[in-house]
Amino acid sequence: LLVDKGNHRHFMEKEIHEQPEVISHTLAHYLDFAGGSWRPLDMPFDFAKLDRLTISACGTAYLAGLIGKYWFERLARLPVDIDIASEFRYRDIPLAKGAAALFVSQSGETADTLASLRYCRKAGISVASVVNVRESTMARESDVVFPTFAGPEIGVASTKAFTCQLAVIASLAARAAAARGTITREEEKALIRQLCDAPRLAGQALELQRHIEKVAHELAQVRHVLYLGRDTNYPLAMEGALKLKEVSYIHAEGYAAGELKHGPIALIDETMPVIVVAPHNRVFEKTVSNMQEVAARGGKIILITDGKGAAQASVKAFETIVLPDTPDLIAPIVYALPLQMLAYFTAVFMGTDVDQPRNLAKSVTVE
Ligand code: AGP
Repeated sequence: LLVDKGNHRHFMEKEIHEQPEVISHTLAHYLDFAGGSWRPLDMPFDFAKLDRLTISACGTAYLAGLIGKYWFERLARLPVDIDIASEFRYRDIPLAKGAAALFVSQSGETADTLASLRYCRKAGISVASVVNVRESTMARESDVVFPTFAGPEIGVASTKAFTCQLAVIASLAARAAAARGTITREEEKALIRQLCDAPRLAGQALELQRHIEKVAHELAQVRHVLYLGRDTNYPLAMEGALKLKEVSYIHAEGYAAGELKHGPIALIDETMPVIVVAPHNRVFEKTVSNMQEVAARGGKIILITDGKGAAQASVKAFETIVLPDTPDLIAPIVYALPLQMLAYFTAVFMGTDVDQPRNLAKSVTVE
C-alpha cells in the first residue's frame, strides 16, 4: 500500500487535516445529506428491543466508545457497559440475552479487542464492530460491521480514525434513539442536521492552527500537563492527554473536572498547565468552578471553548482557544481537533519521532 505525506511534514499532520473530508465520507455511508435521512442498515439486532449495549476497545478506540456511552444513554436511554478490552476479556462478565456488543477498532486486529469479541460470540450475543480496515479479522468475525472510511491511518497516534469512529457512533446513537422512541421526529431531524454539519465545523477547527502552535510552544517547555473535562469532554480530556503523551513524551493525565478535588488538585502549581475542554453546555458552570480552584492555586489554564464560553468564563485563563459554536452531539468530534493539533505541534517543537513514537506499535496484535 502506497500512501505519501503530500505537502505535510508528517502523516499525523496530514491525517489531522484530512478529517473534514473523511468524516464527511464516513457519514455519507450512514446518512443521506441531501434528504436529511438515514440510509438503510443491515442490522442483526433491533435497537428498540435491546436491554443493554456492551462496548469494549483499547486506547483511543476505547475513548470513542466511552463518549458513545454518554450518547446512547442520554439520547436512546440505552444502558451501556463499557470496558477496556484487556480487562473485559478476563473478567468473566455475565452477558444477558437482551444485550448486544459493540467493538471499536481502527485496525480490526487488536488482540485484546478481538479476544473480547470472541468471548461475546461464544456467549451467543450479537456482535457489531466499528472498524476502519474492512478486511480485518474483527470485521470478518462480526455479525455486522459499521465501517469508518478514514482511509489508511499511518501515524501511530490515532487521529482521523477516532473522529470517524465518533461520527459512526453518534449516528448509531441517534438512530437508536429514533428506534426506541426516546426522541421526537423533529429532534431526530435536528440530530441528522447536526451530524451533517460536523465536517464543516471540523474544517473551521483546523483554522485555529496558528494559535494552537503558539500554545504548543509553551507546552513544549513543561514536564506535566493535566486535562480536565466533564460529560463527553471527560473522555475527550483523556484522549487529549493520551495524544500528548504518545507523541511528545510529556506526562499528561485526563481527569473528570469534578474529580479534581479528590486528588489531582494537589499537583496544581504554576509549572503545570491545565487544559480545560469546556464548550458552553449544560455543565459549563460546574467546570468554571473547577477552573476557579485551579486559578486560586496559581495554575495556568488553557481553556478550549466556544464564543459564549469564552465570554462567560469568569476566570483568567492563560490562553483561550475559541472554537465555533457546535451542537452538543458533535462537539466531541470538533473538539478533538485542537487537542490533536496541540499534541502534534508540541511534539514537533520537541523534535520527537511524531509518526513512530518510541515503544509504540500501530496495532497491538499481541497481548
Ligand atoms: C492511539 O493513538 C493509540 N496509538 C492506541 O491507543 C490505539 O487507539 C489502540 O491501540 C487501539 O487500536 P485499534 O483501534 O487498531 O484497535
